[in-house]
Amino acid sequence: MTSNGMECSAANDVLLEVKNIYKNFGVTIALKDVSFSLERGKVYGLIGENGSGKSTVSSIIAGMQPASQGHMVYKNEEWNPSTMLVAQEKGIGMIVQESGTIPNISVAENIFLGHERLFSKGLFVDRKAMTQKAQELLDSFGISMFKASDRTSHLDMQMRKIIEIVKCLYWNPDLLIVDETSTALSLEGREFLYSVLDRLRKENKCVLFISHDLNEMMEHCDNLTVLRDGVIIGTLEKKEYEPNVIRKMMVGREIKGDYYRSDMDACSDEVVLKADCITTLEKLLCFSLELHKGEILGIGGLSDCGMHDVGRALFGIEKVLDGEVKVRGCTISSPQDAIANRMAYVSKNRDTESLGLSATIFENIASTGYRVNRWFANIVSGRKENAYVDNQIHELSIKCAGKHYAVNTLSGGNKQKVVFGKWVASNADILVLDCPTRGIDVGVKASMYKLFYEMKKSDKAIILISEELPELIGLCDRVIIMKDGRISHEAFRTEGLTEHGLIDYMI
Ligand SMILES: Nc1ncnc2c1ncn2[C@@H]1O[C@H](COP(=O)(O)OP(=O)(O)O)[C@@H](O)[C@H]1O
Ligand SMILES: [Mg+2]
Repeated sequence: MTSNGMECSAANDVLLEVKNIYKNFGVTIALKDVSFSLERGKVYGLIGENGSGKSTVSSIIAGMQPASQGHMVYKNEEWNPSTMLVAQEKGIGMIVQESGTIPNISVAENIFLGHERLFSKGLFVDRKAMTQKAQELLDSFGISMFKASDRTSHLDMQMRKIIEIVKCLYWNPDLLIVDETSTALSLEGREFLYSVLDRLRKENKCVLFISHDLNEMMEHCDNLTVLRDGVIIGTLEKKEYEPNVIRKMMVGREIKGDYYRSDMDACSDEVVLKADCITTLEKLLCFSLELHKGEILGIGGLSDCGMHDVGRALFGIEKVLDGEVKVRGCTISSPQDAIANRMAYVSKNRDTESLGLSATIFENIASTGYRVNRWFANIVSGRKENAYVDNQIHELSIKCAGKHYAVNTLSGGNKQKVVFGKWVASNADILVLDCPTRGIDVGVKASMYKLFYEMKKSDKAIILISEELPELIGLCDRVIIMKDGRISHEAFRTEGLTEHGLIDYMI
């Protein structure tokens, strides 16, 4: 990005200028005097902690909401898109951070959502033609994981993100905005996304790319602009990239890369959870594991290796057809059993499975505290409950305008903190965490990692399911690698864990 006043390239290369934009949400100032310009033929990175304003500025450009102050110029004209559809038709497409597909319709219907008239035949929509067109589009991108006629609700998060990407590309955008999409993608999906970025750059189009993965940003962006608390802190050109400098710009203080554990502290021999040859309908076939008191056990692999199914089966969400899950001698066959046995679960699909989005922050956190906040018989003490919630907001530094706001108003990382808050406060001592740091910036990550370690030291046991090998290596006492629903490798922290040593067993 070029900050205002410093533009040096030919004016006709400039595609979009954002000038002195402000955005307020009630008392929250999400953007403060934000200015930058985007030129054709470049991939721009926008980076910053959760709540720094990245999604807000992107959504203003893409017509999802207006700015409170300031203006924009796009293709040399004032830019005030009234809706996302208008922006899309004028060449600005955005892949949104939260899910942008509708579950109960087909892939084709999602791709052409809002543009059904393209296929209108008298009073009707010619769905066959629509499906055919969508299938041609999928074929042209070499996408064979799903078909245009598939129902979207049958597809996983990664496939739904790919639908959104294809949907944006159909309109041949001059500016593509990608907001936190990579976290939903496995290696394969990411490669697809990167190929799209490269292609747009070559076609003299422009991309605004937002991600929490610093390595990915440094590799694929021509320059990086850092936002902090709604203000642009600075822009670095590719040759100036230096991870510690960027992190420092993001959080405003020095953060060393080594926020992982350096100890070799052992855990107890006591088994707290045991999966004994469990088989599920889809992925797992006679899968066994033992988790010990004070242990952080990592599970890794490619996204469809079955690791997410393990988490769901252990917590009683996914039906175990054969074998059993036992916690301190009790069989777990439903989430109710799991909770009664002091288990907690953080889902990979935070928004659909772990949070009541329209409920308030207070209601979400308090939901796990019924037992501890009980005052007498079944009556909950309001005072205790307030303290319970306040304590979590404070402990995890949840950035919100107030605890009675809907969870929906929070940024992704802060939502994840609410999910955590609700379980940490409940005093669960077996935690099954499925990609808990997904879409979360370094500052919050570092504090979560610290929390995991403190939990281990207080004899809690953690199963950490993660698609990020450095995280597994950096935090776990033991790592299991899965492939095709089975364990392909097991390695201990004390033996020394390396990415190379593990990756071979994933593929
Ligand atoms: N619809 C909204 N209502 C109230 N506050 C909001 C809304 N959208 C965003 N915010 C607030 O604006 C700030 C910036 O949020 P956001 O742009 O989502 O951050 P980022 O994408 O960088 O994580 C945060 O403090 C967030 O809570
Ligand atoms: Mg965001």
